[in-house]
Amino acid sequence: MSTSGKDSWAGSLGADSGAIAPRPEDIRIVPACWTEPLAFERFFAAGRPLEVDVGCGKGLFLIARAKKHPDLNFLGIDRQLRRIRKAAGRAAREGAANVRLLRCESSYAVEYLIAGPIVSAYYIHFPDPWPKKRHHKRRLFSARFLDALAKTLVPLGRVHVATDHRAYFEHVSALFEADGRFHANTPFVPPEDERTAFERIFVGQNTPIHRCSYFLAGSGKR
Ligand SMILES: C[S@@+](CC[C@H](N)C(=O)[O-])C[C@H]1O[C@@H](n2cnc3c(N)ncnc32)[C@H](O)[C@@H]1O
Repeated sequence: MSTSGKDSWAGSLGADSGAIAPRPEDIRIVPACWTEPLAFERFFAAGRPLEVDVGCGKGLFLIARAKKHPDLNFLGIDRQLRRIRKAAGRAAREGAANVRLLRCESSYAVEYLIAGPIVSAYYIHFPDPWPKKRHHKRRLFSARFLDALAKTLVPLGRVHVATDHRAYFEHVSALFEADGRFHANTPFVPPEDERTAFERIFVGQNTPIHRCSYFLAGSGKR
């Protein structure tokens, strides 16, 4: 926890410096205040689109994509400390200076810590499906989560979802289809080198992967 009252980040890189290799502790964002939106301009180079990987796990996709797109900023969110640490270590080793990581419940982060509209794309790869009916309330996707996505996306911002769980896919698609703010787009399929850890497992098992992508209408109700 920062003692200065500012969100913790070493900052020694300078947000504009892509040249200096970051340290894992530079990559993690630790909010000083959990009830105020994060001041992302403190962590990222200014004026670049922000992409967010929700439930980023060990960060394989996030870091591979960030390295290919140094002109974009990338935020990974995951609630598991072990995975965030692994992702931060990987980002540091690979010199991904445009990546930041936040350990947080992702629905909370999107609803309360991201003050929109600043996100150009969300990637939500293999969210926990919680298949038992009594556990459905734990699922990430709900009408309320779509509200938070819509409020934080820039006009025409995109949401990309992938899951191996057919019933959860149908649930997610139905939520988007019923929401007039979003329109269907060609589903995003990551190139092989950007596959997430779970995607690699499912591809190896020949498990079908269901994907959908939506974009936020350019104007109108959020
Ligand atoms: C099935 S794994 C998928 C990880 C990664 N996206 C991939 O495809 O390899 C789900 C990830 O989401 C994280 N997660 C699940 N529910 C979450 C939540 N409510 N908030 C933040 N992270 C969550 C888990 O810790 C885990 O890393």
